[in-house]
Amino acid sequence: MPKPNDNPRAKTVLITGASSGIGLALYKQYVSLGYQVITCGRDKEKLAQQTPLATKWLVFDVNDIDAVAKAAEQIIHIDILILNAGTCLYIDNAKQFDGHCFREVIKTNLLSMGALLENLLPKVSSGGQLAMVSSSATIFPFSRAQAYGASKAGVDYLANSLRIDLANDHIDVCLIHPGFIKTPLTDKNNFSMPFLLTAEEAAKRIYQGIKHKKHYLQFPKRLTLLLKLLSYLPQSFANSLLSKD
Ligand SMILES: NC(=O)c1ccc[n+]([C@@H]2O[C@H](COP(=O)([O-])OP(=O)(O)OC[C@H]3O[C@@H](n4cnc5c(N)ncnc54)[C@H](OP(=O)(O)O)[C@@H]3O)[C@@H](O)[C@H]2O)c1
Repeated sequence: MPKPNDNPRAKTVLITGASSGIGLALYKQYVSLGYQVITCGRDKEKLAQQTPLATKWLVFDVNDIDAVAKAAEQIIHIDILILNAGTCLYIDNAKQFDGHCFREVIKTNLLSMGALLENLLPKVSSGGQLAMVSSSATIFPFSRAQAYGASKAGVDYLANSLRIDLANDHIDVCLIHPGFIKTPLTDKNNFSMPFLLTAEEAAKRIYQGIKHKKHYLQFPKRLTLLLKLLSYLPQSFANSLLSKD
C-alpha cells in the first residue's frame, strides 16, 4: 500500500524566488503534476499573477528576518523546500572593489539562508527534502564574479554540511549547480553564455533530480565537464584560453 507521501497530490513544495525564471518554471512543473505549491517572492501582485494556482503566496524579502519568520508562521508542513531566490551582480573593477555590491550579493544569496533555514526547516517533515540552488560558477572562478561566486561557494558548503546532519532527521539535501539558464537574471549579461538552457529545461532536470533524491545536480553536463576540465589546468592558462573567445 503506498504511503501518503507517495501521492504527489499530498506533497507540499515551497519555492523561494518563484515569481520569475527557474523558480517560476519549477512552480509550473510541480503544479502540472498535482503538487501543492507554496510560492514566495517580494511582490504580491507579481506573485499572484505569475503563480495563480499556488496553494499560498508568501510575500517577503529574504533579507528581512522578521518578514521571513512571519511568513513561516502560515506554514504547517513542507515536503520539499526549494531555496532558489537569488541575485547576481558583478564587480566591474577589482581594484576599486565595490564592497556594497559584495555585501548585497552575499546577503541575498548566502546570509538570507540563515533566517530561511531557521524558520522553514522545522516545517520539513521527516522523509522530506531540502534543495538549495547554487551555481556552476563555483566549479571554476569567473572574471567579475567575486561576489556571486563567493556567495554560491558558501551555499555549497552549507548544503554539503547540512546533508550530514539532516540525515539524522531523515531529510535529504540536494545541491543544485545550474549552468547558464535563460532568465531575467541572465538576460542582463552581455557576454556569451555557452550551452544556455531554458528555465523549463532547468526545471525538468531539477524536478527529476529531486524526485530521485540526488544529492548533487549539475547541468548541462557538457558545461559542467568543460568547467571541471578547466579547473584542473593552471588558472593562468585556463584564463588565457577563455580570454581568446
Ligand atoms: N539563470 C542562471 O543562469 C542561473 C545559473 C545558476 C544559478 N542560478 C540561480 O538560480 C536562482 C534563480 O535565478 P533566476 O535565474 O531564475 O533569476 P530571476 O529570474 O532573476 O529570479 C530570481 C528570483 O529570486 C527572487 N529574489 C531575488 N532577490 C530576492 C530577495 N531579496 N528576496 C526575495 N526574493 C528575491 C526574485 O523575486 P522578485 O520577483 O521579488 O524579484 C525572483 O523570483 C538564483 O539563486 C540564481 O543565482 C541561476
